[in-house]
Amino acid sequence: MKIPFARPIIGTNEISLVNKVLKSGILTHGPFSRKFEKDFANFTQIRNILAISSCTSALLTSYFLSGLDKNSEFIVPAQTHVATVHAGTFLGAKPVFVDCEKDTGNIDVDLIEKKITKKTKAITIVHYLGKPVKIDKVLKLCKKYKIKLIEDCALALGAKYKNKHVGSFGDFACFSFYPAKHIATGDGGILICKDKNDLQKAKLFKGFGVDKTFDQRKIPGEYDVLTIGLNFRMTEMQCALGVEQLKKLKLFIKKRKENFNFLKKKINNIKNINIISTHSENKFISSYYCMSILLERSLKKKRRKIIQYLNNNGIGTSIYYPKILPELKYYKKKFNINKKNLINANNISNNSICLPIGPHVSQQNLIYIAKKLEGINKI
Ligand SMILES: Cc1ncc(COP(=O)(O)O)c(C=O)c1O
Repeated sequence: MKIPFARPIIGTNEISLVNKVLKSGILTHGPFSRKFEKDFANFTQIRNILAISSCTSALLTSYFLSGLDKNSEFIVPAQTHVATVHAGTFLGAKPVFVDCEKDTGNIDVDLIEKKITKKTKAITIVHYLGKPVKIDKVLKLCKKYKIKLIEDCALALGAKYKNKHVGSFGDFACFSFYPAKHIATGDGGILICKDKNDLQKAKLFKGFGVDKTFDQRKIPGEYDVLTIGLNFRMTEMQCALGVEQLKKLKLFIKKRKENFNFLKKKINNIKNINIISTHSENKFISSYYCMSILLERSLKKKRRKIIQYLNNNGIGTSIYYPKILPELKYYKKKFNINKKNLINANNISNNSICLPIGPHVSQQNLIYIAKKLEGINKI
């Protein structure tokens, strides 16, 4: 059996729509980016939406518009994808790392306040593996200290907090459509700006800072440049893929949830593993990105061996994330941060293994995964 950790589900509708775009000759600046933004807004019920080249470029735009520079700091979870921190460090700002909760892997919101200084311009939260952060507490801090809130929703499309989609709460929110994600466009992202003025600024920043979009120009090629800006466009092919993928999103999430619950039941009693709590409960509705198991006691030192055993048996795995951020070579050298208070983040980085539960995984696959997992205590 071969079960990849993730595999995008691209159907004939996606293929024919991308073909249509290719035949139209309009490969960028076309109607599909607007349609994708509109459909995304309909799905999430959030306004001020901008299609963008990746979650990383959405994060960079958010940090730029939050005023991050070499005199500022921003607060991030110690346990996240490097993009969450790189995008701010790139602007010269200093990242301040916060430990995560032991059970969910989300940023521990009770540890944030004491990290806030006069230099703090933004707090970034990451809805880890699809489970929303305790957003209320962070919102209160942002209001009290006049700090921007940025939601990194790369793993959380479709997740809800108090019945509202994640991405509704921050001054900025960033989504990713890299192929392992809930919908796939190759690369691609969405940036949400709470403030309409920020949306206008983001549009400028995303397109070289030019004053007129392609269809606003009276004379072709005639424009002026108002601000600094880069090229963060999503192509028409990517947006067409996104339009078709969005139609399936509800179904994809339903399947992820069913798979998570099915596998959880099957492996709940295996000794020395603990399932990270990324499922829905009460006001936290998960988008079920994957299932992450934490190795405990005698299994702790055997992660590599266990991963090799699973992979050799055709089971794809991943690690979210392989090192806490201050331990990545670049950050270690640049800041040499004391990591002794990042115990939970370290534990998850060192001892977790992520298992596939995407819509490409069948119940038969899950029974097989569970069977193989039963063998890990004998490795
Ligand atoms: C939490 C998080 N943020 C940001 C990113 C970067 O996303 P992208 O590849 O769309 O730039 C990732 C990628 O997996 C991620 O996991």
